Amino acid sequence: MATRTMSPVLLLGGSGQVGARAAKALRRLHPDLPIAIAGRDARRASEVAAEVGGPTTATAADVGRDDLGLERGASFSAVVALVKDEASNAVKRAQADGVPHVAFSDAVGEIGPVVAHALARPTRAPILMLGHAFGGAATLAALHLAQELQRVDAIAIGCVVDADDRGGPALQAAFEQEAQSGQAPLALQGGKWTWLLGDAATRRFVDGEGVERVGRAMPLPDVVSLGAATDAREIRVDIATRDAATGGAGHVTELIIEVSGRRHDGAGARLRYDIVDTDGLARLSAYGAVIATERLLGLAGGPPVGPGLYLPESVLDPARVVARLEELGARVRRTGQRL
Ligand SMILES: NC(=O)c1ccc[n+]([C@@H]2O[C@H](COP(=O)([O-])OP(=O)(O)OC[C@H]3O[C@@H](n4cnc5c(N)ncnc54)[C@H](OP(=O)(O)O)[C@@H]3O)[C@@H](O)[C@H]2O)c1
Repeated sequence: MATRTMSPVLLLGGSGQVGARAAKALRRLHPDLPIAIAGRDARRASEVAAEVGGPTTATAADVGRDDLGLERGASFSAVVALVKDEASNAVKRAQADGVPHVAFSDAVGEIGPVVAHALARPTRAPILMLGHAFGGAATLAALHLAQELQRVDAIAIGCVVDADDRGGPALQAAFEQEAQSGQAPLALQGGKWTWLLGDAATRRFVDGEGVERVGRAMPLPDVVSLGAATDAREIRVDIATRDAATGGAGHVTELIIEVSGRRHDGAGARLRYDIVDTDGLARLSAYGAVIATERLLGLAGGPPVGPGLYLPESVLDPARVVARLEELGARVRRTGQRL
């Protein structure tokens, strides 16, 4: 596809921690693709646009406004919301224009509005729910391991981030809101959906360096994606922090995915991916957003995705996602043991 003739991909929140990294990764993968960086502060958006280079523009936008605060008549090839779509204005705009939409900020208890918008106008636009850990990278990597098994029993996703890596103000606000709302994280336990309370919300797991971490469960949609895509009876996502505050560009983010079950020959197995990126959690998350966006637009991995409501695993191929993460610079190590 001739990307240079497309309307720009609108990155709402494109000047944020995730957004700027997503724009840069998208530019690396698609040098001619027009990108529009949008945020309330137009000057900051312009600075990021200049860093991204190529056919990148900047525009003022506000997801709190019905018209997103965009210029009348502006046309976009996709509406990627890398900020919370608090009033559903971004999804409505994508449906009005009939272009793909990525919803990147909804925890598992918050997907109601976007689901209802997609179901109310099912033929208008492809809507992708992508509030998953690292923009779906964790779920797709888990499904890549699951392909080696005839039966999946358990899936555990562990994220390790530096203690001083809290993402941008928008992510911090999301964490605070989550804490205040008392929203318990959802997990599948013994085949039953369970809101984890107290000690049940903590899990110990071993990181890539062999250090035991104490993780806390997260209310992310990975659990429902993986619950629908596999027969696993145990599924959860936890996040742990690493005390060594490396700061700035010295951040390291780890994603540890463990999938256990039975191989086709009947042998028990525990398979594991360690995915490591030498940046804060925003960059690996941006990679997930970019891999999904290029797929929706038909720029990689198949034709453009038609109207409908999607989870990342319904449009992305697990092997391609893992390969794309490596291509973008993440370190991927796969190990396994017999049980
Ligand atoms: N699914 C995942 O893997 C994942 C991972 C990390 C974060 N997230 C989500 O991604 C979002 C961004 O996180 P972040 O760490 O990048 O935060 P951030 O650095 O604060 O970035 C927020 C961006 O959104 C813009 N923004 C804020 N309010 C806006 C509004 N009302 N209208 C338009 N733009 C607005 C900001 O620019 P201005 O201030 O100039 O408006 C900035 O560009 C959060 O919602 C977070 O929950 C998802």
